Amino acid sequence: MNNISDDKSWKYSDFIENSNYNFDKNQIFSVLSKNEMNDAFNMISRWDGYSPTPLENLNHLASELQLKNIFYKDESKRFNLKSFKALGGAYAVEKVSQNKKNITVSTATAGNHGRSVAWGAKRLGLKCKIFISEFVSESRAEAMRGFGAEVFRVKGNYDNSLQECIKQSKLNGWQIVQDVAWEGYEIVPKLTMAGYSVMMKEISDQLKENKITHIFLQAGVGGMAAAMIAGCARYLNNIPNIIIVEPESADCVLKAVQNNTIVKINIEKESLMGGMSCGEVSLIPWKIINTNSKYCITVPDDKIADTIKSLANCSFSNKKLVGGECATPGIISLIASCNNSKLKDILNLNKDSQVLLLGCEGDVDEDLYNKLLNI
Ligand SMILES: Cc1ncc(COP(=O)(O)O)c(C=O)c1O
Repeated sequence: MNNISDDKSWKYSDFIENSNYNFDKNQIFSVLSKNEMNDAFNMISRWDGYSPTPLENLNHLASELQLKNIFYKDESKRFNLKSFKALGGAYAVEKVSQNKKNITVSTATAGNHGRSVAWGAKRLGLKCKIFISEFVSESRAEAMRGFGAEVFRVKGNYDNSLQECIKQSKLNGWQIVQDVAWEGYEIVPKLTMAGYSVMMKEISDQLKENKITHIFLQAGVGGMAAAMIAGCARYLNNIPNIIIVEPESADCVLKAVQNNTIVKINIEKESLMGGMSCGEVSLIPWKIINTNSKYCITVPDDKIADTIKSLANCSFSNKKLVGGECATPGIISLIASCNNSKLKDILNLNKDSQVLLLGCEGDVDEDLYNKLLNI
């Protein structure tokens, strides 16, 4: 690796400290309880083919940045679905269909959530209807059809696909399994978050005696980040510095934290990180992120390809790792933070730091992955 630590082209776009920060386990558990997280682990860990995804060590990158350890949770290995989303939608499908016969589940998706819902429906022999926007690639749609789902393409963006999903589901009596919460629709999104928290349970087992000092959490609507914060409260003995990471073009969490209220932002350009290109933080995650996340950082798209390549060619670790576009922004923001002495100080990143990053997807969109790998 040629001196990444001197390379000022690794930049962040925006950074803020949360002035409302007040980590409070009881407040967190009042949103997502210990029992909800326990139930998710107990059910998911009994599924066929379940095994914890690996916690890798980015040892080359850690020595380059002069940090003690960089752990990387490799979700490309999750149930052959290649992303952590396998834990959320499929779990919610199983919970909502308990004691019900022949229900049809539906959802709107940027890709990974829908794949999880389709897979969960197939496991249980349920019908599944999926709504996607014009920005979702055909290869992602094909993967959902591969699990037996009927896929409807809707003109416009993700919001349009969600509105159509809600309309059709009401008309046809389908059960919506959405990863986004809104006023009056909170139970199912909470189930998806309980499912995601299984990652933190696994990580706490895999860390053994190591203590995490920093965790970088990617956010789209904030479900995963909030679930992992709840997981920290539930499974870790210490509270790491929690840093929320977003694309610069879709910084809805940063804007909400800055304004101390949910803000709908206008996405002018879709980020390559499609799963994170969201304009509004979801209601339930917000209740956790609002006061329990310490910092927010945003990054441009321009280092995604370099990061994917470095993961694949063993520059960051001894092992070849397959990380898709959404797996990169934690790495990018960590390098950008270490290469900026002021930010490095604020975040207290030093030779004793043990950083946790989430490799939240693999080559889910193989065409895009190969394109980025070969730029
Ligand atoms: C791979 C990946 N990473 C991160 C996210 C963001 O998760 P959330 O929307 O729960 O914040 C998504 C959402 O679809 C995703 O698919």
